[in-house]
Amino acid sequence: MSILLTGGTGYIGSHTAVELLNAGFDVILFDNLSNSEEEVVDKIEKITGKRPLFVKGDVCNQKDLANVFADAKNQGNPIEAVIHFAGYKAVGESVEKPLMYYDNNLVGAIRLLEEMKKANCNCLIFSSSATVYGEENIAPFTEDMKIGGCTNPYGQTKFMIEQILKDAAFADKELSIVALRYFNPIGAHSSGLLSEQPKGIPNNLMPYIVQVAKGKLPQLNVFGNDYPTKDGTGERDYIHVVDLATGHLAALKYALNHKGIEAINLGTGKATSVLEVVSAYEKATGIKIKYEIKPRRPGDIAVSYADAGKAKSLLGWTAQYNVEDACRDSNKAK
Ligand code: NAD
Ligand code: UFG
Repeated sequence: MSILLTGGTGYIGSHTAVELLNAGFDVILFDNLSNSEEEVVDKIEKITGKRPLFVKGDVCNQKDLANVFADAKNQGNPIEAVIHFAGYKAVGESVEKPLMYYDNNLVGAIRLLEEMKKANCNCLIFSSSATVYGEENIAPFTEDMKIGGCTNPYGQTKFMIEQILKDAAFADKELSIVALRYFNPIGAHSSGLLSEQPKGIPNNLMPYIVQVAKGKLPQLNVFGNDYPTKDGTGERDYIHVVDLATGHLAALKYALNHKGIEAINLGTGKATSVLEVVSAYEKATGIKIKYEIKPRRPGDIAVSYADAGKAKSLLGWTAQYNVEDACRDSNKAK
């Protein structure tokens, strides 16, 4: 049985490919390489001893999608399920270029669903985000909370795609869809071969700390120490990317045996402050991280963490790694 991973050469897609190959699935990576490199395929092969098929293509392009489904079928290994990672994800960029974000993320999801149906493929796992909980809900976030009210176009695309998927599943009872709401993915594969490779100066905490640790940036700017949290800095639910990957494997097994739609949090259920992440990095690596307190970053909320109960009860999945493990693995990556 083959599984299509759109955005499969990206950060989360590549780690998920490793877990799927290790579990015995045939994997097709479909990516336009707008934010990743084809050499990721060699690295996945190095780690697993199996080479996934790579197809360069765009999820907004109907022909590219139709071809990938048709080719798999003609080779006697039709695509049974899709994990849809492909999309743009930079919050700040989405504020500057909203149309580009709505176009790529929304059109990609709609084209994909259309082509899946034509190919009689009914099973979809979608990369959603904790950002859909917006500013009004109070953590821990549970899946039954009202979602929306996101502060940026990127977050809005995740909210809107979840709504599109809900409507599609209501209209078509053959569909089986799981929207996975990721909390804060960090870390890297322990081999040091796969990791997040942000272009330019990183926006997110962990890649920024890595660059300070490697001497590429002089210091970390901590955005605010006057939040109502344990030490005044923002608290997040940091989840190791390998845990996230095994969460996809569990969701895939669930979706292949069910119909309808579920939204499921993938988080650890624990909140960690910025200063606690800095300490964990120092402890895991022995490298001192210089930092300075700066004003709050606009759009940030004080606390975000998951209620991870639904993933445990429905998928039998819980996170295995902690923040220190993720710091150690991030520091290993080239
Ligand atoms: P990533 O940028 O590393 O991977 C996304 C991949 O999609 C890239 O390889 C890119 O080349 C590809 N892509 C983009 N547009 C495409 C298109 N039109 N056609 C084909 N390929 C295309 O990002 P990631 O961190 O691996 O994120 C994967 C998914 O998870 C994204 O949808 C993202 O929004 C979501 N997500 C990420 C985070 C996070 O913090 N990393 C948090 C919540 C949700
Ligand atoms: N932070 C700093 N300094 C930095 C970067 C971040 O102090 O240089 C702080 C932030 O203020 C926040 C915490 O570190 O308190 C985490 O910030 P990130 O930018 O790493 O992550 P966010 O929680 O802001 O956003 C992430 C993803 C979004 C996603 C959101 C919810 O980047 O795509 O989680 O899932 F929408």
